[in-house]
Amino acid sequence: MAVRRILLYGDPLLREQAREIREINGRLQELIEDLRETMYAAKGLGLAATQIGVLEKVFVTDFGEREGLPRGFMVFINPEIVEAEGELYEEEGCLSIPGYSARVKRAARVLVRALDREGKPFEMELSGLGARAIQHELDHLNGILYVDYLSPLKRKLFLRWWKKHRPGNQ
Ligand code: NI
Repeated sequence: MAVRRILLYGDPLLREQAREIREINGRLQELIEDLRETMYAAKGLGLAATQIGVLEKVFVTDFGEREGLPRGFMVFINPEIVEAEGELYEEEGCLSIPGYSARVKRAARVLVRALDREGKPFEMELSGLGARAIQHELDHLNGILYVDYLSPLKRKLFLRWWKKHRPGNQ
């Protein structure tokens, strides 16, 4: 178990499609532990395996004590959104783009289906921040980053910002 390095915007691995997980084994449990430790060390609400360079369909979340959201550490293996409705336009950030945030459009409520860490299927309905987080993490598994949704102008401004503020740039 280890805190792993989180890949930063610009890393080509962040653009890859993650593979379906076919076996719930010890190696997967180790990956989940690494995701857990890395997410907590970075004080994130969620982390996808893609962000530590592992192209497998799993992400983890912890929404803390926020009202109306499930509590504690959660694991989503082979997740899919089976229903989505409504619309939100809220500020989002990403551990792969530290220091930046921007408003993006998301569904306001989602029904997500996934396997838990024992491989048991479950469904969960989430709204608000929870719904946004699920969509954001699921996007990571498909090589999508939230800044991809910015308008061309805002995207240009982001790229300029990133050039200046990217960690390790000084
Ligand atoms: Ni992210």
